[in-house]
Amino acid sequence: MVRTIFVTRKIPPVGIALLEAKGYTVDVNPNDETLTHDELIVHLKEKAYDAVLTLLTDHIDTSVFDAAPTVMLYANYATGYDNFDLVSAQARGITMTNAPSDLASDSVAEHTLALIYALATRIVEADAFVRAGKYTGWVPMNFIGTDLSGKTLGLIGCGRIGSKVAHLAKALGLSIIYTDIARNEALEKELDATYMPSPEDLLPHADVVSLHTPLMDSTRHLINEDRLTLMKPTSFLINTSRGQIVDEQALVNALEKGIIRGAGLDVFEFEPKISVGLLQSSKVILTPHIGSASQQARDEMAEIAAQNIIDFFEGITPRNVLNHK
Ligand code: GLV
Repeated sequence: MVRTIFVTRKIPPVGIALLEAKGYTVDVNPNDETLTHDELIVHLKEKAYDAVLTLLTDHIDTSVFDAAPTVMLYANYATGYDNFDLVSAQARGITMTNAPSDLASDSVAEHTLALIYALATRIVEADAFVRAGKYTGWVPMNFIGTDLSGKTLGLIGCGRIGSKVAHLAKALGLSIIYTDIARNEALEKELDATYMPSPEDLLPHADVVSLHTPLMDSTRHLINEDRLTLMKPTSFLINTSRGQIVDEQALVNALEKGIIRGAGLDVFEFEPKISVGLLQSSKVILTPHIGSASQQARDEMAEIAAQNIIDFFEGITPRNVLNHK
């Protein structure tokens, strides 16, 4: 039986090639643009698709399920899956998978370190200064930054990505403190990391706070006005997880009032919209949700998403099923 797959936007060819090698008909959204919810529904009504390969920007909810009654599987090309209504999928017997690539975890961890170092060494501001023709000679007191060796990194969430950040940071001379719902004893042994029972315990002690939790009801606005107030005035906040974990307006206020020193953000509460207060602040470094954008990571994500589809249709339980547990 020839399976028919819809791919909501162009992804690395290696994933498409895997699906085509199985003889599947693969329709890729012909425009290299993110589909709106309505456009996605229009595409899904065009054919009796068997599976859909989705992006984290596709909201897969009951209206999508209603529009595509033949689809048995949605395979996310992402580690996160907050774009999926898993409860409704479960009720309808639809299988949902994600693509937790190891290389993507490496890539996000490296991007996290890049943001931390860029803030501490003021690379982005300094680059703009040179390009503006303002560099007229060595100055003793220009672009004074912060050493990171000997400082403390506070991780909120210490799973796959958080632990990788911890390893990289430890090698660069930072001490590690972390909080999570579960203790990571291996990390405590290996890196001499210290467990903090709650964000309230961690925040006052960290020079850099980095967020590595999934987006869930319990983590939405986990960083809010009260918790920002607990951070050191010299500290940096880094977010490479999901934008809605931070109350963006509270962050803008904290930066304006000097409650924290700066922020490095790869994700935004209302992305792709970004608060004007962040765009206008010289205390933040902003990147467009590219944490996992190394070539190797994106290839592996495409392979994992495609393999989940192939396994499903070959009668093997895909490795990354999120529901039916
Ligand atoms: C990226 O944000 C992902 O979840 O893979």
